[in-house]
Amino acid sequence: MNTAGIRQLNLNEISEEDQTLLQAAFSAAEQAYAPHSRFHVGAAARLSNGEIVIGSNQENVAFPSGLCAERVAAFAAGAQHPGVPIEAMAIVTTNGEKVESGFSPCGGCRQVLVESEHRQQSPLRLLLQGGREAQVVEVDNCDVLLPMAFHATGLGRG
Ligand code: THU
Repeated sequence: MNTAGIRQLNLNEISEEDQTLLQAAFSAAEQAYAPHSRFHVGAAARLSNGEIVIGSNQENVAFPSGLCAERVAAFAAGAQHPGVPIEAMAIVTTNGEKVESGFSPCGGCRQVLVESEHRQQSPLRLLLQGGREAQVVEVDNCDVLLPMAFHATGLGRG
């Protein structure tokens, strides 16, 4: 993986606090409500005050009404800890095919994460793991995942 700002990590390169965050994301994935896709995703956000806020995908039989794990976590962090930056978010899956190149957030989630990052004016680092045995992928900031994202300037504001 050669993209600037994105790298695969070896186990010994993952700090203890990042391992804790990944573990929190795996625990969250176990609580996913995903009877329709059976694809369980967990997210855990570590805030600058040390709090960890979790999310898991929450589906609905009217499919577009459901929400992805990382958006649940980002919005919960915004609602419960307004103004507190997210330093890092681990996003993992526990089933489905093992994704060797790392699980990668969908476009809608990238848009939300990019805006969280801009709002807090500091990098929001991501740790992605597509299955417990898969390699961890580190993304330095969310801008890397969504070049030319839609920003408030597109509305003629900000
Ligand atoms: N999903 C996430 O939770 N995050 C993503 O970034 C991609 C997809 C969920 C949504 C749905 O519940 C299931 O995975 C299958 O798409």
